[in-house]
Amino acid sequence: MELFEAIQTRRSVRKFSDRPVEEEKLQQVLEAARVAPSWANMQCWRFIVVKEQAVKEQISELSYVESFLAPKGFKANPAKKALAEAPVVIIACADPEKSGVLWDQTYYMTDLGIACQNLWLAARGLGLGTVFVGIYDEAKLRELLGIPSNIRVVGLFPLGYPFEEKTGGTARKPLNEIVFNEKWGK
Ligand SMILES: Cc1cc2nc3c(=O)[nH]c(=O)nc-3n(C[C@H](O)[C@H](O)[C@H](O)COP(=O)(O)O)c2cc1C
Repeated sequence: MELFEAIQTRRSVRKFSDRPVEEEKLQQVLEAARVAPSWANMQCWRFIVVKEQAVKEQISELSYVESFLAPKGFKANPAKKALAEAPVVIIACADPEKSGVLWDQTYYMTDLGIACQNLWLAARGLGLGTVFVGIYDEAKLRELLGIPSNIRVVGLFPLGYPFEEKTGGTARKPLNEIVFNEKWGK
């Protein structure tokens, strides 16, 4: 798939077919994350690949943070089922010490954001689908997966073949609302 088409047609995929993900494709998705740019090329990311059904189910259970989601009217994370049903779940982690902080901007989140978008677009290009799951009980996930306390869990990515091709998409602001010319607001 051509790059711009992948960018334009990428969607959050939360429902998967039973088709397993070929190991070669999984490696290509991880490779796309590996070659991403990062602060001083420090590559602060680490990824955990989970395929065991029982573990995916436990991860799925940890995707609900009541204090955050309940006030917004959610009884579950919209991606809860996806985490249990996808053939693979990739846990994207960061070591903040291996990235930079400059004037209160913490670049490990930027590094991970770029790597995760590479991963997401590579999945799309290979006919796979995923969604960035950013809400979960981080402490319990650390416990479940043996992640050290100095490492942050930045996102969960259930990965598989989409159950159906998503057409249309969520709305975006038009360019004239988000791009200024020469000065802020113009
Ligand atoms: C940082 C981040 C965190 C997200 N967390 C969740 C989440 O916890 N659960 C979920 O179902 N979707 C989550 N999403 C998906 C967004 O809701 C989705 O990307 C957005 O609505 C745009 O839809 P699209 O991806 O189909 O274009 C997250 C996306 C991002 C970038």
